[in-house]
Amino acid sequence: MGSSAKSASYADFHRRSLEDRDAFWTEQAALIDWHRPFDRVCNHDNPPFARWFEGGLTNLCHNAVDRHLKDRADQNALIFVSTETEQERVYSFRELHVEVQRMAAVLKAQGVGKGDRVLIYMPMIPEAAFAMLACARIGAIHSVVFGGFASHSLASRIEDASPVAIVSADAGSRGGKVVEYKPLLDEAIRLSSHKPSSVVLVNRGLAPMAMEAGRDHDYASLREQHLDAQVPCEWLESTEISYTIYTSGTTGRPKGVQRDVGGYAVALAASMKHIFMGQPGETYFSTSDIGWVVGHSYIVYGPLIAGMATIMYEGLPIRPDGGIWWSLIEKYKVSVMFSAPTAVRVLKKQDPAYLKKHDLSSLKALFLAGEPLDEPTARWIADGLGVPIIDNYWQTESGWPILTIANGVERKDSKFGSPGIPMYGYSVKLLHESTGEELTGADEKGVVVIEGPTPPGFMQTVWKDDARFVNTYWKSIPGKLVYSTFDWGIRDKDGYFYILGRTDDVINVAGHRLGTREIEESISSHPNVAEVAVVGVADNLKGQVAMAFVVAKDSTTLGDAQAQLKLEGEIMKLVDSQLGAVARPSRVRFVSVLPKTRSGKLLRRAIQAVCEGRDPGDLTTMDDPSALQQIRDLFA
Ligand code: PRX
Repeated sequence: MGSSAKSASYADFHRRSLEDRDAFWTEQAALIDWHRPFDRVCNHDNPPFARWFEGGLTNLCHNAVDRHLKDRADQNALIFVSTETEQERVYSFRELHVEVQRMAAVLKAQGVGKGDRVLIYMPMIPEAAFAMLACARIGAIHSVVFGGFASHSLASRIEDASPVAIVSADAGSRGGKVVEYKPLLDEAIRLSSHKPSSVVLVNRGLAPMAMEAGRDHDYASLREQHLDAQVPCEWLESTEISYTIYTSGTTGRPKGVQRDVGGYAVALAASMKHIFMGQPGETYFSTSDIGWVVGHSYIVYGPLIAGMATIMYEGLPIRPDGGIWWSLIEKYKVSVMFSAPTAVRVLKKQDPAYLKKHDLSSLKALFLAGEPLDEPTARWIADGLGVPIIDNYWQTESGWPILTIANGVERKDSKFGSPGIPMYGYSVKLLHESTGEELTGADEKGVVVIEGPTPPGFMQTVWKDDARFVNTYWKSIPGKLVYSTFDWGIRDKDGYFYILGRTDDVINVAGHRLGTREIEESISSHPNVAEVAVVGVADNLKGQVAMAFVVAKDSTTLGDAQAQLKLEGEIMKLVDSQLGAVARPSRVRFVSVLPKTRSGKLLRRAIQAVCEGRDPGDLTTMDDPSALQQIRDLFA
């Protein structure tokens, strides 16, 4: 089924992708349209930089939209469902083409040109997808910021991306509660030294907006002026920049992950065929958000490139009831679904009868990613849906799965607890953290790394900062130029990998990637905080939650439980307003001293171990042993 005649087995397919790289990727490149063919498949002359399909001209929007007008203009392209505003709208490829051109014309009229940045800060509404595709169409670089982030997070991204224009909306809605975007956006622009010349606002009628004359524009009125817009696709060099997306790492400053045009289009088209096995005319439903990488690759670009309809869902998985997602599968005959383990754990708490109420016969597979998939959750959903549950491991940096199984090449079984085996194009190794020695034995624990050249679709660099790209990702293992995923892993005797958590200060809350340093910086700005440590602690529902330990400047203010609760509340509110509720710690606990080494380094791993009831390991370098005892006592 769908397997290439030339590849007898997945093992051969994978080997060929590395050993006969150029021929392999030339075949994959035929899955998309090129305006001008490329003359070099992979330029790896200057490692670790990999440049794919040099000389080729193409366009992401052309491949996602225009290309399908010939055969499927009237088929569904974008299906918008909001259980927050009770709206449901379906756009065919023809209608999507019209709306994207209108948005493109609006952006052009606002002065946006090729190579300019457009920051998109939007709820899950169709205009968000129009804006992304419009940027791709005219060669502008989009930078989508997750709508759950607040003013400080947004400000640092505006500062770094220096957008000409920002596309936003009055508000989102969550669980029936309106979440205003405009005041956060205004505050973010005020905090940023870079000021966009234009802000285009979609007014959903959810919240009043104060419009700044000359800068702020109502999208509906601008759109009216461009109803018949014809904006041709700008043909771009394959290696030009399509977008940047910010992600967290060890330092507080988010990194702009930069992606190309041609490599990304080929990578997505290939993944739709070999991994997701979606066919043109079918419907894809990813429950992620456009603010995350899964939303970029598998709500917007991947399904559309494959000629599939894609569902954009605004709302919770359990509202109006726990059957809402299953009802969408039935209604739109979804064949491929993509979600996160946390969402499944939420659904697992609902009445199991919801799964039986709907005809789910169109569904072929459910893909889960973003965080470890625990066995009870996997078994529950596998039994409930009766289709393969396919765990897949990847990162914002990679853009598409690194580890999973490719049933489009050769049917394989998943092993519970393992996201799978290395995907074609990826040479994945396990290295010893400090010696850099390769670990080849079964069940040896090491850092998961990727040998260059990284495949098409992988990040090109850190936006405006090649040095940071090289130093952060490629120089973390002594003596070897390899890409570090910053994840611990092991591989079993059959070659299946198991991911054991991050090696750095990144935490994963309900599938949302957050940097503990960013949260610490925000908490430190409270006038009564002297010092703070934030760690991720295992949680049954969310995978991990953030836990903050604070040393107050004036501890006399923390006399009783009441006073501590008050300060805890203030700190949570502060994080909500600066970073957004996604980053809010689940608890803030007060201590008189934090565990540190004698040279002053915070012992975060030891704190985390104590919080999780594990042995904190070697503590000989610890300055004040009573510090860890305080944390132990809090959890006793
Ligand atoms: O720690 C790994 C975890 O999520 C990180 C990447 O998060 P993000 O950049 O938001 O990209 C998510 C793309 C799906 C990884 O470094 N992670 C992701 N998928 C899995 C996972 N951990 C375990 N199993 C997975 N399937």
